[in-house]
Amino acid sequence: MAASSTASSKPAAVIILAAGLGTRMKSVKPKVLHEVLGMPLVGHVISATLSLEPQNTVVVVGHGKEQVSDYLAKNFAKATTVTQEQQLGTGHAVLVAIESLKNLTSGPVLILAGDTPLLTEADLAKLIQAANGVGGAVLTAHLTDPTGYGRIIRTGSSDVESIVEQRDATDSQKEITEANSGVYVFAAALLREALGKIDSKNDQGEMYLTDVVGILRNSGHVIRAVVTDSQNILGVNDRRQLAQAGQVLRERITDQWMLAGVTMVDPNSVWIDRTVSIEPDVTILQNVQLTGSTSIKSGSVIGPDCTITNTVIDNDGSVIRSTTIDSHIGKGASVGPFTYLRPGTKLGPKAKAGGFVELKNATLGEGAKVPHLSYVGDAQIGQGSNIGAATVFVNYDGQEKHQTVVGDHVRIGSDTMLVAPVTIGDGAYTAAGSVITEDVPAGAMAVGRARQRNILDWVLRRRPGSDSAKAAVADSSSSSTGNSNKG
Ligand code: UD1
Ligand code: CA
Repeated sequence: MAASSTASSKPAAVIILAAGLGTRMKSVKPKVLHEVLGMPLVGHVISATLSLEPQNTVVVVGHGKEQVSDYLAKNFAKATTVTQEQQLGTGHAVLVAIESLKNLTSGPVLILAGDTPLLTEADLAKLIQAANGVGGAVLTAHLTDPTGYGRIIRTGSSDVESIVEQRDATDSQKEITEANSGVYVFAAALLREALGKIDSKNDQGEMYLTDVVGILRNSGHVIRAVVTDSQNILGVNDRRQLAQAGQVLRERITDQWMLAGVTMVDPNSVWIDRTVSIEPDVTILQNVQLTGSTSIKSGSVIGPDCTITNTVIDNDGSVIRSTTIDSHIGKGASVGPFTYLRPGTKLGPKAKAGGFVELKNATLGEGAKVPHLSYVGDAQIGQGSNIGAATVFVNYDGQEKHQTVVGDHVRIGSDTMLVAPVTIGDGAYTAAGSVITEDVPAGAMAVGRARQRNILDWVLRRRPGSDSAKAAVADSSSSSTGNSNKG
């Protein structure tokens, strides 16, 4: 018996079941690819197993297998997939996986469902421990509402006798609140043997993995239970549970960052992907989403109302009411409010992308400023330059994008159109309202606009008796009273 029982702390194999359609999701997307905090359900499940250093990880795919395999290949290159052609039940899915692992004859096998994103590494490690030296172990929790879950039937000795599915349970079994998480560890050889004995004599006519427990128990093996928090075993079968899983994970992650030294004024309104990193002494205000590979250094203040995606924010950065994507915000640089940093934006130290500004594929040198209402696309702006309000970098001729280069310490006048490709030399100025189509030499003032002309007394002649005309007559500076205009 001892030879065939589990005897190692590292799983010989991890098997993840992800072939089901997920009917209750009512989606064209395979269930396990639905995302919680930016990561598909199956990604969360695999992530929880990584620290266990399994020798093999096999994911059973079926419905939407191309999409699922594609995701896994890109994100978890070590995991292999095996196809379950027909979804004949969770027991059949494990059988398919085991048959693909010809050399797997001993050691603990960890089995998980691909739709349980809240599993913790600690629980999985405990489960492997509990299975050590016996036939296996199952992770369970007491649920206030266990509807839909398999129920744990215990023996007097408190070990597990069997698992009964909700639809096959008697009324008194339905009263049991201890639910099956769908996570198990079995000794490899015993699992192989028991899978051979599973039938489909149940309400769904499926091969249930849960039957392995009863089968092993009936042949004299002990199956232990590890009880954990109800939250940890949440299975996502519909979109309500998907949202619930998101809430739990969101809170776990904000708790973790607060304990690591990050201030959050209203953690309940902050959503941080698992993939984000934050240094101590960052402050996060209300309504902030941090996603993807975002990383934020000490002293930065983010929020309120920001969505920060794949963005690096150096020390003491500030982002207010803005959206940033694939960008880099330098030390002490500031963004917003109401600003949009699109991919390829790089703000140098102390640079500023102020209010109502959009930047794309643009670099701002140290201390360069785009303070108000501007569009900066495909541009390089040197250090200390200032871009006047409502300037547009006219980068698109309808067919191609072109580059604008602005040198150091340039002053671009308000409402300048910089028609790319164009270069503004170091220290140059442009006059407000100019349309700049030609390069400007260093130190020059470029004026690209019509000269102003005043048509005297136009209002008195063309709008006689109007409020404007009366006001003009009353103004001692008006030309009609003999004084010249102000220009
Ligand atoms: C299963 C368990 C139940 C447990 C619950 C925990 C069984 C029979 N029941 O029920 O005791 O409380 O999980 O969440 O195991 N899958 C396949 N191939 C199949 C069928 C399913 O790969 O042929 C995959 C699904 O994609 C899913 C996982 O197995 O990721 C679980 O299947 P699901 O149909 O969600 O099982 P539950 O009814 O939730
Ligand atoms: Ca499920």
